Amino acid sequence: MEIKITKDYQEMSELAAKEVAKVLAEVKQPVLGLATGSTPVGLYEELSKMELDFSKTVSVNLDEYIGLDGNHPQSYRYFMNEKLFNHINIDKKNTYVPDGSLPDAQQAARDYEELLSKLGRIDLQILGIGNNGHIGFNEPDRALSLPTHVVKLEESTIEANARFFDSIDEVPKEAITMGVGSIFKAKKIIVLASGKAKASIIKSLVDEYVSTELPASLLKFHPNVLLIIDQAAASLLD
Ligand code: PGA
Repeated sequence: MEIKITKDYQEMSELAAKEVAKVLAEVKQPVLGLATGSTPVGLYEELSKMELDFSKTVSVNLDEYIGLDGNHPQSYRYFMNEKLFNHINIDKKNTYVPDGSLPDAQQAARDYEELLSKLGRIDLQILGIGNNGHIGFNEPDRALSLPTHVVKLEESTIEANARFFDSIDEVPKEAITMGVGSIFKAKKIIVLASGKAKASIIKSLVDEYVSTELPASLLKFHPNVLLIIDQAAASLLD
């Protein structure tokens, strides 16, 4: 895992945007894996400013809450439209987010994994990391699912995400997430982290161990991972 430490959040976002631009320049029909949360917002702002050509790009998002449809302001589909897709020339028909509004979430997860298999590759996957070490919504556990699946959110994740909702009771308790195996389909993975609040999990991630209790640590098995973190997130590293 290669690590780049940037001065601040802005520089982290700009560096990640350059990596995305490189993929768009090199690949004819790029498949981008995208993430939600606060961390990639700066990256999406940069991409919106750069006037890149996304007309041939397909995107797949990591996860979605169960029970929210795409018109719900806290759904990840809505987030992606607002933060990125409405500002670039991507064809929305080529943007995929798991569907959390279907009555059969298990089937929706299987359908999403089939879509990923059909696409066959992700050229670049963007990831954030949760305070508990989750990637997507792959929460710390004794064992982790490889394909896209339905997951029960950890209390700490619900608490962390409550800031986006009027009350904690409104935060969905379940989600559909790409599994670790789905994420590993990516040729290259960029993990972003910013701020002091992430310093402790980044320190644990960078140590010499792997554990399903820290899902991001499994990324150490992937041959092409770039961790871009700002100085605050790196502040506990030796
Ligand atoms: P954040 O979330 O970017 O809002 O910190 C990261 C994550 O939970 O993956």
